[in-house]
Amino acid sequence: MAEIGLRFEVDGEIATIVLDRPGKRNAQTSATWSALARIGENLPGQVRVVVVRGEGPSFSAGLDLSMFAPGGTSGQDSLATVATLGDDGFQRRVAEYQRGFLWLRRPDIVSIAAVQGHAIGAGFQLALSCDLRIVADDVKFCMKEPALGLVPDLTGTKPLVELVGVPRAIEICLTARTVGAAEAVQLGLAEMAVPGDELAQAVQDLATALLATDRAAATATKRLLQGASGRTLEEQSAAERAEQSARVRALFASS
Ligand code: CAA
Repeated sequence: MAEIGLRFEVDGEIATIVLDRPGKRNAQTSATWSALARIGENLPGQVRVVVVRGEGPSFSAGLDLSMFAPGGTSGQDSLATVATLGDDGFQRRVAEYQRGFLWLRRPDIVSIAAVQGHAIGAGFQLALSCDLRIVADDVKFCMKEPALGLVPDLTGTKPLVELVGVPRAIEICLTARTVGAAEAVQLGLAEMAVPGDELAQAVQDLATALLATDRAAATATKRLLQGASGRTLEEQSAAERAEQSARVRALFASS
């Protein structure tokens, strides 16, 4: 994966994905997204927390601009090539790209984006695809796609709307403006902002706190919380009963 600019490290129950092309501000290509999907498919069973971070001054400058060039970058898709696939083919290809992002929401793990500097376009969407975001005080979120004639299509629009609401999401995306650390926390885009040199420790502390909870209870609770907005109160109450029944029976069966 080193040639793609990704590193994957596992330390006990914590896995870390490192975007590792700092010289290109961790710009992402189709190969990045395939590699992310493979990491998700092969995630070791003991992993409970997945940290996504970027090497160097920026989390990620988004789509590698060489993908706009007719030939793309060696061995990887160019937008021009993907555009020739036709509607069905294009959508199938983007569905493959999206697989690299979607698994980060799995209920049996908690994903944390550690974000410093620029998180632009695909970089912002990768941060949004994580459950939680801890940011450095120099963070600069920017959804640049509409300014480039594109839409955000790497699974970022739903979490953005859920976090900030439709009006604010429209304003952020259609102006392609930068959102800094204080505003990100105020809008709920980030759980916490810390000085840059404290980012790694803040993420480690959060991971440690998350790991203190029983795994089965954490998984069931995350499943409940994720489903809440799509259910009525009655349906959510029923879902709570069902999850609790499984929990209580498991606890008493094992004691
Ligand atoms: N693709 C490829 N290379 C990039 C890049 C990108 N997105 N962003 C930065 N780089 C490269 C630069 O070309 C430069 O390379 P060289 O040293 O070889 O010239 C190197 O990274 C450092 O860049 P800067 O000198 O510009 O660094 P900076 O810290 O001053 O600025 C930046 C950082 C603000 C991120 C700026 O580089 C920038 O604006 N980059 C482009 C961002 C962009 O438009 N991304 C596309 C988002 S849209 C998207 O992501 C679409 C989608 O998913 C569908």
